[in-house]
Amino acid sequence: MKRPTKTGSEQTSQQPVYYLDNNATTRIAPEVVEAMLPFLTEYWGNPSSMYAFGKQVAKHIEQAREKVAALINAEPREIVFTSCGTESNNSAIQSALLAHPHKRHILTTSVEHSANIKFCAALQKQGCHITFLPVESDGGLDLHLLEKCIRPDTAIVSVMWANNETGVLFPVEEIAAMCRSKGVAFHTDAVQTPGKLNVDVKDLGVDFLSLSAHKLHAPKGVGLLFVKRKTKYHPYVIGGGQEGGRRGGTENVPSIVAFGRAAELAMAHLKDENTRVRALRDKLESAVLHHIPGTVRNGARESRLPNTTNISFEGVEAEGILMLLDQLGICVSSGSACTSGSLDPSHVLIAMGCTIPRARGSIRFSLGVDNTEADVDFVLKHLPGIISRLREKSV
Ligand SMILES: Cc1ncc(COP(=O)(O)O)c(C=O)c1O
Repeated sequence: MKRPTKTGSEQTSQQPVYYLDNNATTRIAPEVVEAMLPFLTEYWGNPSSMYAFGKQVAKHIEQAREKVAALINAEPREIVFTSCGTESNNSAIQSALLAHPHKRHILTTSVEHSANIKFCAALQKQGCHITFLPVESDGGLDLHLLEKCIRPDTAIVSVMWANNETGVLFPVEEIAAMCRSKGVAFHTDAVQTPGKLNVDVKDLGVDFLSLSAHKLHAPKGVGLLFVKRKTKYHPYVIGGGQEGGRRGGTENVPSIVAFGRAAELAMAHLKDENTRVRALRDKLESAVLHHIPGTVRNGARESRLPNTTNISFEGVEAEGILMLLDQLGICVSSGSACTSGSLDPSHVLIAMGCTIPRARGSIRFSLGVDNTEADVDFVLKHLPGIISRLREKSV
């Protein structure tokens, strides 16, 4: 793979980039670009048209639907294409509220992505009751507490599968069974899982599941919501009759086709992510924890995505680390990517009981199938010196 490059205002030549921020977004795979290009250039008709030039495009949407359905072992008719993971999460929650007008309680966790937390906070202002479940120090959930918090007026339980900041996994299969036994709808935000975990909606037993294409080597701006067959569904985006009346708006055809191709690749990536990428992540993590003093991993060691490690560096602010790594072309995150740039400590780490300085000194490294040993070695070569320099400055 050709290494990505960046240009800076002071630089005339291009600098290589060491990209270890795959939970934020991923490179569009060349196979995916190839699959989507004809739908930008040649086959640009409206899939809802009555003439063959448009109708031929509709066929490719259906093929993509079959491919993304196969990725999660769903039926194609259980897939609703959306504009992103955020829309998918919002849609599942909104649908449950509309399906049960007398139920105004939503049970979720304090470590969800802002696509849930902020949506639920907005619903709270509109009169809904929200329970944001706390988490334990390793990022895990107390399932007894979760069960106790399900109320007769709970419209939906929405719990993410893999945390985007720490990689910690929640036992969604058990939570889904709990919800089923109580007759409550269950949604999981599985945005971080394809290509890293085997996603099987039948085994999981979920009613709703969200994905986002840009996390699996496809473009930004397309996602999906799995809606289990026979689950009542009320559209969130209302307009034309697209997606069988479940999501209005002319389809983003090139990106949907790309999503289909990326779903095939994600299945093929599963082994590499769980062997080679996991070993690279483990090498990085153990070298940092053993060779840089004052470091600690945030989140459980075992029940975790194979590509993610979140590490706090005592006595330094993540912002400083990010800036110095960036000068070398190394891309990593502090807190969640969607809030990076803001200096607020991560709500996920704070919910896990981290102190504010520990949360402010945390960095997320998220690897992917494009990473090589050379990327990890480059980081390990420079990071210890960066941390020492920052610590010297702060005394
Ligand atoms: C766990 C999780 N959920 C939802 C989202 C939002 O997805 P999108 O960027 O497609 O709206 C993200 C993106 O970072 C995520 O990591």
